[in-house]
Amino acid sequence: MISVPTCELLIPAAGSGRRMGSDRNKLLLPLLGKPILQWTLEAAISTSAISWIGVIGQPYDFPAFREIFAKLNSEKIIILIQGGDTRQASVFNGLNALPANSEYVLIHDGARCLATPDLFTRCAEALQTYLGLIAAIQVKDTIKVVNDGIVQSTPDRNYLWAAQTPQGFAVKELKQAHFQAQTLNWAVTDDAALFEKIGLPVQIVMGEETNLKITTPQDLAIAEFILKQRSPHPLN
Ligand code: C5P
Repeated sequence: MISVPTCELLIPAAGSGRRMGSDRNKLLLPLLGKPILQWTLEAAISTSAISWIGVIGQPYDFPAFREIFAKLNSEKIIILIQGGDTRQASVFNGLNALPANSEYVLIHDGARCLATPDLFTRCAEALQTYLGLIAAIQVKDTIKVVNDGIVQSTPDRNYLWAAQTPQGFAVKELKQAHFQAQTLNWAVTDDAALFEKIGLPVQIVMGEETNLKITTPQDLAIAEFILKQRSPHPLN
C-alpha cells in the first residue's frame, strides 16, 4: 500500500442557522440522532491522510463542539479556533492557527456532512501533485446568468462544474491569497476563488453527488434518506 503524507484539515463551522430557520448553529441540529458536525468529523477522522483537525466556530458554540469531540474517541489532535463574521474570515483565522510546519491543508465545510472518507483520502492524495484542488461535480441543469429577472446568457454546460469541499491547498500559497484578499477587499465564497484570483491553477477532483451542503430543512431530510441508504442502522 502506498502511504500518503498527512495533511491538516480545517473545518469552517462558525455559521448560523438562518437559512435553516434555526436560531442556533445548524451544525448542531440532529441528523439521525447525531449533530451534523459529528457526522462530518466522523468521516474526516476515518482517513489516515489527515493528522490534525482545526474546527472553526463561534465561542458560544465551543461547549457543544467539545461535547461532540468527546464522543469521537479519536487520537487525532482536534482543536477549536475562533471564527469570523464570514466564511472567508473564519478560514483566515484557521490558516493562522495551523501548526507552524503545516505544508498542505484541506478545507471542508462542516455543513457537508455526507462527504465520505474516500473523498477526503482522494483529495489528500491529490495534494501531493497539485498546489490547489477542489472536489466538484459536473452540473446536470442548464444554468442561466440572470440579472433583474432577465436571462442574460446560457453558458455552455460542458464547462460548468459545481464546487464542493474538501478543497486542498499548499499552505504558503493559500495564506498569500488570503492576505492579498484582505488588502484588496476581495470577498469570495470559497478558497479556490482566491487561488484563481492570484493566478494559481486549481485542479478538479471528482466529487460526490451525495456531498450536499446542508442549508435548508429539505437538505436535512435528503441527508437522512442518503444515510439510511448507506446503512439501514447508521447509528450502530
Ligand atoms: O452558510 P454556508 O452553509 O454557506 O457556510 C458554509 C460553511 O462555512 C458552514 O460549514 C459554516 O458553518 C461555515 N461558516 C463559517 N463562518 C462564517 C459563516 C459560515 O465558518 N462566518
